[in-house]
Amino acid sequence: MSRFEPSGPLRGSLRPPSDKSISHRAALIAAMGEGETAIEGYLDAADTRSTLNAVAALGARIEVGAELEAALRIHGVGLRGPRPAAIDVGNAGTLLRLLPGWLAGQDGGEWTLDGDDSIRRRPVDRVAQPLRQMGAELSARDGRLPPLEIAGAPLRGIEYELPVASAQVKSCLLFAGLLANGPTTIVEPLPTRDHSERMLAAAGARIERGAGRVTVYPAERLEPGPISVPADISSAAFFVVAALLVAGSEVVLEDIGVNPTRTGLLTILEWMGATIEVEPLGERGGEPTARLAVRPGSLRGVDVGGAEIPLAIDELPLVALAACFAEGTTTIRDAVELRRKESDRIATVTAALTALGGEVEATADGMVIAGTGGLHGGAVDSHGDHRIAMLGAIAGLASRDGVEVHGMDAAAVSYPGFEADLASLLGAQSA
Ligand code: S3P
Repeated sequence: MSRFEPSGPLRGSLRPPSDKSISHRAALIAAMGEGETAIEGYLDAADTRSTLNAVAALGARIEVGAELEAALRIHGVGLRGPRPAAIDVGNAGTLLRLLPGWLAGQDGGEWTLDGDDSIRRRPVDRVAQPLRQMGAELSARDGRLPPLEIAGAPLRGIEYELPVASAQVKSCLLFAGLLANGPTTIVEPLPTRDHSERMLAAAGARIERGAGRVTVYPAERLEPGPISVPADISSAAFFVVAALLVAGSEVVLEDIGVNPTRTGLLTILEWMGATIEVEPLGERGGEPTARLAVRPGSLRGVDVGGAEIPLAIDELPLVALAACFAEGTTTIRDAVELRRKESDRIATVTAALTALGGEVEATADGMVIAGTGGLHGGAVDSHGDHRIAMLGAIAGLASRDGVEVHGMDAAAVSYPGFEADLASLLGAQSA
C-alpha cells in the first residue's frame, strides 16, 4: 500500500521511461532480423522484460550492458528462424497479440502463449481468427482466451477489415504478412498507433499506406539497423495531468514520443481548456519527439468519442480524472475496448473515482463524469492494473485528503521508477 498526500506544486523536468509499445516492437523486429540490432533506450519494465524473455526463448541472443535502457543488443534468428517454445507473456497484452503473427507463418512449428491472471482474461480470438484465414492453426481456451496454441503453416495473403480499431491486431497481421505468399492488406475502421509500420519500413519491408489501409508484402529478410526509443507519452501523461491539477506546478517532460497516433490526450486536454506547450525536438528512429511544458489551467467538460478514442486509448482513465476537476460534464463514448485492457477500465476507473468522491457513471462503452471541482480522497484498488495504480497516485496529489493505493506495485509493468520520479518533481519545489 502507498499513500499519496495532497501536495504542493510539482516542479522540474524529467525524462519519463521509454515507450512500451515501441520497445516491444523493437525487440520483436530485432529478433526477426538478420544479425545484430542495437537498441538504445529499451524500456526496462516488467512488460518489456517479458518480450526479451520471449525472444530469447525463440532463439535470439541478448546482450545487455550495465543498464538495459543504455545498451541492448539482439542477435536475430531471422524471419523464418524462431524455435518452438512455451512462452510466458506475463502481463503483456501487446506481446500476446503481436507475437502470434510471426509464429503463425512458421511451417511445422508449434508454440504456446500464456501469462498471468489478467492475461488469461484478455481476448485472443481477435488475432486467431484472421490468422486462421491466412492458413495457420490456432486454438484458445473457450475459443477466445489464453493459453493460445499456434501451429505454424504456409500463409496466404488476405485483405482483412479489422472489426475493432486495434494496433495490436494490425501489427500481428503485418508480421504474418511478411511470411505470406502475396500481399496482405489491413483495413482499419479508425487510425491506430503506427509504430509497427514505421519500424518495419525502416527494416526494409515493403509497406504501402493509404487512407484507412495498409498493405505489407512478403519479405525475404529484415535488416532493422540501430533503433532508438523515445520516452513514453503514456507514462508522461500522469505528470501532464498532475501538473494541470496541482496549483503552482511547472513541469517539463523531455524526449517524449509525439507520434500523432499517440497524442490524443493532448488534443482532449486542449479541448478542455488546458495549454500544453509542445516544442518539437525532431525525429529519432522514424518517430517525432518533443519537449512538453505543463502548468495548471482551469478545465471544462467535453464530449470524447470516435476517432479520438484510439489515439488516447491508454490515457482515457486520466481524461476521467481531469474531468472530475472540470466545470461541467464530460462524456467518453465509443470506448468499449477499455473493458478489455489490463483490467476492465470502465469498471475500475469508475470504482476508483467514485470511491474518492467523484460523480462517475459507467456506460456500456464509456463513462459520464460530472465535474465536481475536485475529489475528497480515500482508497483505490489498482486491481493489478499499472495505469489504475498511477491514476490513484495522481488523484491523491490533487485531492483534499489524500489517497491510499492498494497494489501500487503494479506500476512496475510500465513504470518501475514512478514513485521516485514523482518524489523528484515534488522535492524540487523547495529548490
Ligand atoms: C498497443 C495498442 C493498444 C494499447 C496497448 C498497446 C500497442 O491496444 O491499448 O496498451 O502497443 O499496439 P489496442 O490497439 O489493441 O487497442
